[in-house]
Amino acid sequence: MELEKDVSIAIVGGTGNLGQGLAVRLAAPGIKVIIGSRDPEKARTVVESIRKASGKEGIEGKGNQEAVREAELVVIAVPYEGHSKMVTELRDQIGKKIVIDAVVPLKKGKPFIPPAGSALLEAQEILGTETPVVGALHNISAGDLQEPDAPLGDVLVCGDSKDAKERVMGFIQKLGARAFDAGPAANAYIIEGLTGVLIHLNRRYKSKHASVKVTGIGD
Ligand SMILES: NC(=O)c1ccc[n+]([C@@H]2O[C@H](COP(=O)([O-])OP(=O)(O)OC[C@H]3O[C@@H](n4cnc5c(N)ncnc54)[C@H](OP(=O)(O)O)[C@@H]3O)[C@@H](O)[C@H]2O)c1
Repeated sequence: MELEKDVSIAIVGGTGNLGQGLAVRLAAPGIKVIIGSRDPEKARTVVESIRKASGKEGIEGKGNQEAVREAELVVIAVPYEGHSKMVTELRDQIGKKIVIDAVVPLKKGKPFIPPAGSALLEAQEILGTETPVVGALHNISAGDLQEPDAPLGDVLVCGDSKDAKERVMGFIQKLGARAFDAGPAANAYIIEGLTGVLIHLNRRYKSKHASVKVTGIGD
């Protein structure tokens, strides 16, 4: 499913590495991006620097609450330490909007399984079953996203709502990556944990670009 051009996307924690990379890639085809921050002034400063570097106008900076209120899709891109608190604080603004959870539970760079079973299940538990939470983008390098022409790895998308996954896969395609339906929310801990392997590969082989590639489908 193609993502409509006039859709608006809020990125919670969008001032960070992943959020800025997403903003750069989404603004290129003209999608409206709202970078969210705990500090609206910080969001505006980051947006100004992205605008200067990319020449793209379709990006705004706001507080996380306002960003989520104004958007149709919500990306959660904060470190795991702040995940549960942030999702709880945004529960009312999120309502039944589709949430794309990119958060990887990491402690000192090493992955772990949180009490809920994964970051995705933690968000789903907080938001309730009527809010579609989709896991995606965990295995993509923020550095590669920030380079508009850099090739991206494949994105494994999981969650319990088929419709939401379809919509999110359309969003991923706009970034210039292939997206695959990687199963139910129960698979999230594997996809989140895989990032720990990619972090190791980057360190071991002195790279910043380790990513995932699915072979045998659509080659
Ligand atoms: N970097 C990557 O390559 C990559 C790739 C895939 C997935 N991820 C996952 O995506 C998430 C974001 O990664 P990142 O590298 O962009 O992280 P980051 O740069 O460390 O943080 C992102 C933003 O989150 C906000 N933040 C920091 N601590 C917070 C807290 N305790 N509570 C609430 N907000 C907080 C900050 O924004 P404000 O100060 O403006 O609020 C910060 O700019 C992480 O969970 C990471 O595991 C990262």
